[in-house]
Amino acid sequence: MTYFTKYLLVLVLLIFPLHILAQTIPLGSSLIANDETTPWLSQSGDFAFGFKKIQSQNQFLLCIYYAKIKDATIVWYANGGNLVPRGSIAELNPQKGLILRDPKGKMIIWSTGRIGSNVAYAVMNDTGNFVLVGVDSSVLWESFRYPTDTLMPTQILEINNKLVARKSESFFVPGRFYLRMLSDGNLVLVTQSKPTNFDYDAEYYNNEANSGYRLVFDEFGSVYILKRNNQRLVLTPPKVPSISENYHRLSLDFDGVLTHYYHPKSTGDQKWSTLWSLPDNICLAILDDVGSGVCGFNNVCNLGENQRPYCECPKGYSLIDPNNKYGSCKPKFVPSCDEFGQGNPEE
Ligand SMILES: *[C@@H]1O[C@H](CO)[C@@H](O)[C@H](O)[C@H]1NC(C)=O
Repeated sequence: MTYFTKYLLVLVLLIFPLHILAQTIPLGSSLIANDETTPWLSQSGDFAFGFKKIQSQNQFLLCIYYAKIKDATIVWYANGGNLVPRGSIAELNPQKGLILRDPKGKMIIWSTGRIGSNVAYAVMNDTGNFVLVGVDSSVLWESFRYPTDTLMPTQILEINNKLVARKSESFFVPGRFYLRMLSDGNLVLVTQSKPTNFDYDAEYYNNEANSGYRLVFDEFGSVYILKRNNQRLVLTPPKVPSISENYHRLSLDFDGVLTHYYHPKSTGDQKWSTLWSLPDNICLAILDDVGSGVCGFNNVCNLGENQRPYCECPKGYSLIDPNNKYGSCKPKFVPSCDEFGQGNPEE
C-alpha cells in the first residue's frame, strides 16, 4: 500500500462513520420527560422526536413534531396518545426497540414491540419517519407504518390501516372518527360510537374507488388512491404548493374533517393553510340518525370557513360542559313532570 492509499483509507474510515453518527441515534440513548432534555432531531432539523409538554399540565407526550415552526404541530404520537408523568424515560434498547418507562424506570408503559432482530441504531428521518434500523441495515420498525392521525409525504396507508382522530385539539387519545382503506378497496371516513365502538360505526364519506388498495401521499405532495390496475384516483387539486418550500400533512382532525395542510418552511408568523378537505359538508354528511352528529346531542352543526364545523346550542339550551363546544347541550329550564308536551322546548 502506498502512503497515499493508507492515508485515504484512514480518512474514509474516519469520515464515513462520523457522517453516519451525525444523524443516527445510538443504542442506549435516552430521552427524559422534562423541560430540559433536547429531542432527537432529523438531519435538516425539520422534525424532532421527543417529549412535549401538553398545555400547562405536568404531563408529557412522546411524539414527533415539526421542530422549526412556531406551531410545533405534532404528527405522530406513542402510547395511544396517553400522556406520561414528568421524569418518564424513553430509551433505545437493542432487543426491545424503543421503550417508554415510568419515572422510576421500573415499569414499561409502552414499546415499539417485538421487532424480530437486533437494533443497531435509530434515525429521525427528514421525512418525519422515525426508524429503527437493524444490525443488517434493514428497517425493523418505523413510525410511518403505525400512523396516528396524520400522513406525511412519502407515507402510504395500506389496506385496513387507519388514521384515528384524537379526542380534541390537545387530548390525543382516540376520538370519534377514523379514516380507513377498506379491504373492498374503498376509502372511507367513519364515526365510531365510544365506548361500544362497533355498534354505531357509520360511514360519512366513501370515495367508491372499489379496487383501491393503498392511499399514497407521494414525494411531490400529491395524495391519491392507487388501484389494483395501477390507476390513480387523485384527491389533491392539480396545483400543489412546492414541497421544497412547504411542509405538507394530511390530518384527520378531531372534528372529523380530513384536511391536507401546507405551511411555508421559512420561519416567521406563518400558519397552516388548507389545500383540500373531506367531506364537503360534514354537517350534512353526518346525520343525527346514529348517535349524535359532529356536535353533541341537541347541539347544532354549522359549516364555517374551510369546511370546518362549528357547534351552537339552540335558543334556550346551554352546553353541558362549557369547555367543550362540540359537546351536548341541555335545556336551560328544568322540565317538570306534569308539564304538557314535555321535551319540546320550541314551544
Ligand atoms: C429517509 O429520508 C429519505 C429522504 O430524506 C428517503 O429517501 C428515505 O426513503 C427515508 N427512509 C425511510 C426509511 O423512511
